Amino acid sequence: MREEIINLLKKENKLSNKTISEIKDIDLNDFSNIVKELGKEDTEYIKASEISKDLDTDYIGKNIYVFKEVSSTNTVAKFLSINGAESGSVVISEKQTKAKGRSGKSWESPLGGVWLSIILNPNVDYTKLPLITLATGVAVAKTLEKVGVENPEIKWPNDIIINDKKVCGILTEAVSKFNTIENVIIGVGIDANLNITDFPEKLQDGTTTLKEELGRSGDENLLIRTFLEEFERTTELFNHEGYEDILKEWRKRSYTIGKIVEVREPFNTYYDAYVLGIGKEGALVVEKIDGTLEKVISGECIIKK
Ligand code: BTN
Repeated sequence: MREEIINLLKKENKLSNKTISEIKDIDLNDFSNIVKELGKEDTEYIKASEISKDLDTDYIGKNIYVFKEVSSTNTVAKFLSINGAESGSVVISEKQTKAKGRSGKSWESPLGGVWLSIILNPNVDYTKLPLITLATGVAVAKTLEKVGVENPEIKWPNDIIINDKKVCGILTEAVSKFNTIENVIIGVGIDANLNITDFPEKLQDGTTTLKEELGRSGDENLLIRTFLEEFERTTELFNHEGYEDILKEWRKRSYTIGKIVEVREPFNTYYDAYVLGIGKEGALVVEKIDGTLEKVISGECIIKK
C-alpha cells in the first residue's frame, strides 16, 4: 500500500524535491495530508464542487478526494481511513491501474467510468458486513432508476445487472483493530460513459454500460451526487436496525431469487442449487439438488436457468 501511495504522489510531482531517505522519514500522517491535498484538485471530468452542489446528505461526501489516476480507490481510501479520515469521506478517480474486483479478481477501470470508494464507520459487527454490501447494491439500483434505467436488477451478492449484463460491481473491505471493525471501505465501480469496446474482448459478452443502455452519455458528477444521497439514505437504516427495509428493497430488484444457479463458495466448493431467497443476515438461502437447504454467506453464483 505504501508503495502505491508513494507512486501516486511521485507521478503528481508531490515528492519531486525529496530524496529516498527523506521520503522514508515522512510521517504517515503527513503522507496522508499530502494525498488529501492532492485530492482537493478537480480533474477534467470529476469535479468535487459539482458533486457537492446541492448534495443532500448529512455526512456522506462532506470530504471528497478526486484523482486523475490511482492504483485503486479502495487502497487510497483504506490508507486515508487508517490515518483518521472521517466517516463518509469519498475517494474518486478517473482511472485505476490496479483496481480490485471480488474474489481476488482485477477490475477494468478505463476513463469514462465512475470508480469510487466510501469510508464508513458504521458501528456494526462482522455479521452485518454482508448487509452493507446489499444496501450499497440497493443504493446503486435506485440511482440508476433515477437516471432513467428501467429495470436495474441485483445479482447476489452485489452485481448490478441491466438486461442480463453487468453494469456495476461492489467491493466491501473491512479495516479492523483488535478484531472489531474500525472502518468499512465500500468500493463501487459503475460502467458509466463507456462503450463496450472500451473493455477487453473476453469481458464484452457479459458487460454493459450506462451509455450503451441509455443511448447517450450522462453527467458523471450528477450520477455520483445521486448515488451518495441514495447511499446515505439506505445505510442510515443501519442506525435504526432497519435491516428488513434494506432486504425488502433488495428482494424487489433481485435477479437471483427463483433461479437455478451454480454456487461458488470459497475454497472451490461448487454445487448447483435453486435460490429460495435471502436470509435476515444477507445470506443467500438455496436448496441443493438433494433437497438440503444451505445458507451461502460468501462467494458468488452463476445463473444457469
Ligand atoms: C466486483 O468484482 O464485482 C467488484 C468490483 C469493484 C470495483 C470497484 S471500482 C472502485 C473500487 N476500487 C477498486 O479497486 N475496486 C472497487
